[in-house]
Amino acid sequence: MLDHDTATETRRIAPHLRNAPPLIEVADVSFWYDDKQALDRVSFDIFPGEILAFIGPSGCGKSTMLKCLNRMHDEIRGARMEGRIVMDGQDINAPEIDPPMHRRRFGWVAQKPNPFPLSVYDNVAYGARIHGLARDRADLDRIVETCLRRANLWDEVRDGLHRIGGLDLSGGQQQRLCIARALSTDPEVLLMDEPTGSIDPIATARVEELMDQLRRDHAIVVVTHSMMEARRVADRVAFFHLGKLVEIGPTDQVFLHPRTELCRRFVEGKIG
Ligand SMILES: Nc1ncnc2c1ncn2[C@@H]1O[C@H](COP(=O)(O)OP(=O)(O)O)[C@@H](O)[C@H]1O
Ligand SMILES: [Mg+2]
Repeated sequence: MLDHDTATETRRIAPHLRNAPPLIEVADVSFWYDDKQALDRVSFDIFPGEILAFIGPSGCGKSTMLKCLNRMHDEIRGARMEGRIVMDGQDINAPEIDPPMHRRRFGWVAQKPNPFPLSVYDNVAYGARIHGLARDRADLDRIVETCLRRANLWDEVRDGLHRIGGLDLSGGQQQRLCIARALSTDPEVLLMDEPTGSIDPIATARVEELMDQLRRDHAIVVVTHSMMEARRVADRVAFFHLGKLVEIGPTDQVFLHPRTELCRRFVEGKIG
């Protein structure tokens, strides 16, 4: 309950979502790569409309936690999860859940922009085509335009949708293209693993601004190495250390009044 109360206090969450129940409940999740334990009984909720940032030293399990949410770990041999992740009241690892259908509820944005070696249009159309989301060509055109507009990239590419390759764009544009691609299946949650970790400060500002716009329609979970970024974008911050979730709370609380000594030392730059 505490998390719910504190999450809903954060002023930037859209008013109609402030009392919404959690979208995802993570309960007692542990995770192993073969015999190497990467997560140790992690529990937290994700609320609709919020930006939740994961911080912590490298190797503490942030990316692993993200991958548990969309079942990307299904692909890793020797990996094993314990505990429960519940989305809309249903255990996401239950046998009746179809992993590709589950993954469609999430958009994934990686640290290094990774457009396909295809045109801008085909990069964005890709997911919609695979999942048969467009009725016809005009419908697909609409999806591509909507996603590019939502990713604040439309004006820069509208005259060359088929001519410009995804890889011809600048790094920052490539990252916004990857965000457009992630939006193309209309996901409920965006998972971003250090999305600004390899782009310049101006491109970073544009991506952060974009995150603030997208939160109206998607919960966002973002891993970041940058304390400044977490403070700028996040409603709540979760601090991980050695596979444990040490502390989670509203951003200002975690940075200004951390409850644990470990978290205080981390946010002050003394560990990590
Ligand atoms: N595919 C993998 N196989 C084996 N160990 C892994 C794999 N991916 C991550 N790990 C290990 O799991 C731990 C957590 O990693 P990760 O979730 O990537 O941490 P973070 O994102 O916080 O840097 C680390 O010790 C890492 O070395
Ligand atoms: Mg990582």
